[in-house]
Amino acid sequence: MSQVKVDHLDEKLGGSGLSPLDASRQPLLSIKDMTVEYRGRSGSAKAVDRASLDIYPQEVVGLAGESGSGKSTLAYAACRLLRPPAVITGGSTLYSGGDFSRSPRDIFKMSDDELTSLRWKEISIVFQSAMNSLNPVMKIGVQLRDAIDVHLSLSKSEADAKVEEVLDMVGIPRDRARSYPHQLSGGMRQRVIIAMALVANPKLIIMDEPTTALDVVLQREILSQIVELKQRLGFAVLFITHDLSLMMELTDRLAIMYAGRIVEIGDTKALRSRPLHPYTRGLLASFPSIRGARRELSGIKGAPPSPLETIDGCPFAPRCQFARESCGQVSMQLESLDRIDLDHLSACPFEVGQVAGIDQGVGGGGIDE
Ligand SMILES: Nc1ncnc2c1ncn2[C@@H]1O[C@H](COP(=O)(O)OP(=O)(O)O)[C@@H](O)[C@H]1O
Ligand SMILES: [Mg+2]
Repeated sequence: MSQVKVDHLDEKLGGSGLSPLDASRQPLLSIKDMTVEYRGRSGSAKAVDRASLDIYPQEVVGLAGESGSGKSTLAYAACRLLRPPAVITGGSTLYSGGDFSRSPRDIFKMSDDELTSLRWKEISIVFQSAMNSLNPVMKIGVQLRDAIDVHLSLSKSEADAKVEEVLDMVGIPRDRARSYPHQLSGGMRQRVIIAMALVANPKLIIMDEPTTALDVVLQREILSQIVELKQRLGFAVLFITHDLSLMMELTDRLAIMYAGRIVEIGDTKALRSRPLHPYTRGLLASFPSIRGARRELSGIKGAPPSPLETIDGCPFAPRCQFARESCGQVSMQLESLDRIDLDHLSACPFEVGQVAGIDQGVGGGGIDE
């Protein structure tokens, strides 16, 4: 096999300059080999298949992939938030909380009390379409106060100050605390939800498709503000999305999921300039740039496999323009194939010829042997 042709050799690597290669860095949260099935009458659907993901303190990680690829299931499984018919059949999540003097705690072995205090205070989650779950008959200040009272022991005046503090953080004028949700725009309601996630100063915020219902400009504004806040407050963020364009700008690292598997993971800039997995290349071609017109998955023909199917080898092979017979035996283990960045891993063991300039679209190329 010949070597990958690598472009952008002089490019500065690293999103935030915080490289996981640095041995002194330990993950805040470490998801290992997570496997989740949804069980029903028509069989067992494997929604997540041996997915592993580390999140380091203060970094912003994007988890991207087409709808149905298992992103939400992976994140909720990791935090023990799944309910039947979901069954976790393998894997674990370790949480260090950034305290590396002690061994990390296994979330799957925590008591209910430990779990309750883990959520909100350590890890807080902004659920998909959460902005529509605000109570319509309660003023937003009262809803924030409720969240504060449940999770923190503060005096009345401290709690009032906390409401103002979190409203300021997310850019909502304080007098809006007296508004009902329907009196706020979609963007404002989304900010309220984010404010709620911030009340207990968590170390990790998981945001599941946090702004999909909002227009692109507003999405960008809100997500950029979260990244700014993260710089000030020092939390880590896991953004879950099917939209790569925003993630390219906002994340330090990206994990790409397909059919329940993480197929590629690495520094966002490395992934953008040297995508290793053909699925990532297809996704990048589908979302050329945040400012350009959006093309819905034009880079990838066909549809993902049914999770009810048992697949040998690479699940992307039927849609892959580079597929070959041996794809049926691929182990899907993540391997380092990037000669510049050893933390850039892909589940495709074949060295796909690099196509210069992803921004001009992915196409052509071919597998070098
Ligand atoms: N409650 C459920 N019952 C059965 N199947 C489910 C359920 N929730 C999700 N799934 C299936 O699990 C797979 C992964 O879903 P999900 O994690 O929601 O993907 P994503 O967040 O990437 O869109 C999909 O095939 C979906 O149909
Ligand atoms: Mg989802």
